Amino acid sequence: MGAAVLGQPAAAPLRITSMEALEAAARAVLPPATYDWIAGAAGAGLTQRRNRTALDAATITPRMLTGVGPPDLSLTLLGQALAHPVLVAPMGLQGLAHPEGEVASARGAAAAGALFCAPMVASRSLEEVATAGGPRWFQLYLPRDRGMALDLATRAAAAGYTALVPTLDAPIAAFRERDLAHGFTPPPALARGNDRPSYAHPLLGGTDAGLSWADLAWFMARAPLPVVPKGVLAAADARRAMEAGAAALIVSSHGGRQFDGAPAAFEALPRCVAAVAGRVPVLMDSGPRRGLDVMKALAAGATAVAIGRPMWWGLALGGAEGVQAVLGRIVEELGVAMRLAGCGSLGDVTAELLN
Ligand code: FNR
Repeated sequence: MGAAVLGQPAAAPLRITSMEALEAAARAVLPPATYDWIAGAAGAGLTQRRNRTALDAATITPRMLTGVGPPDLSLTLLGQALAHPVLVAPMGLQGLAHPEGEVASARGAAAAGALFCAPMVASRSLEEVATAGGPRWFQLYLPRDRGMALDLATRAAAAGYTALVPTLDAPIAAFRERDLAHGFTPPPALARGNDRPSYAHPLLGGTDAGLSWADLAWFMARAPLPVVPKGVLAAADARRAMEAGAAALIVSSHGGRQFDGAPAAFEALPRCVAAVAGRVPVLMDSGPRRGLDVMKALAAGATAVAIGRPMWWGLALGGAEGVQAVLGRIVEELGVAMRLAGCGSLGDVTAELLN
């Protein structure tokens, strides 16, 4: 992969052998506290490991001689045409891995045709991120100050975002032991991309730790865009979110960074899919590293799949081009996996393939 330097454009396009090798290369250029913040998880890392082991344990039995050509990966999600079902999960403080932060990631995602979910606690403003031009959603931790929540929602709509993603699973931060070892806390200066002098308090630290379903329903009723709650694991919560007005949901264990001991997102997915019974799309994140993992999630009922940590490795090693390379590789792997399994389109990737 060559001698990469953090924040410098890669001299040559990233040559990705595996996401594990890419992570090792990124680890070599990132400050140890930053690497551990990205790679780390809550508590003993049980849910983070389970996110992987559950996907690894699932198998797909490929079908032979189906005669399918290069698969059609396109889909329509909340009325928006997308080239493929691989999204970028919202992740804060991307300025820690690249001087251009979320702007570089969003450019890489746009080049890869991937929907980019911009984070609220961001190094760059949602308006700057929008200049990347690709399909985009905006994630937020609903602030205690509801005026700020609605202001952020209005700004996102004005900047061409097409959905709002309130995160439900992080009312407070979990114990992250690797961060404790480094004494790592998010550098406030890097978290201010979306703050405004008129806001009652900084976005980082202003989250409503007492958020209720009634508060979420209040927000959904006033939001200028479809709302896609993120961090649902229980079937009852999936039903509740849908009844409160969710346009879609994201089944997620926050990459194992919040409630350690939760099931893998891949384990929770089928129950949530069953609970909403096709009335809204169900997305998943937490664990996928390869196109095959994406295919397994699609087979288990996900409409699309968001990628988390691998994006950082591409960003740290190659900026926008690195993010594009990571997403492009996962999408290409998905196409190869589908073709080898005899699936010509996303509609062919059904639960029947899963054992
Ligand atoms: C996150 N995630 C996250 N989620 C969110 O809703 N708002 C945020 O600001 C962040 N920030 C964040 C930072 C870092 C460094 C990571 C790794 C993750 C969680 C993210 O959206 C997603 O749920 C997980 O990363 C998915 O799991 P994988 O793909 O990393 O296993």
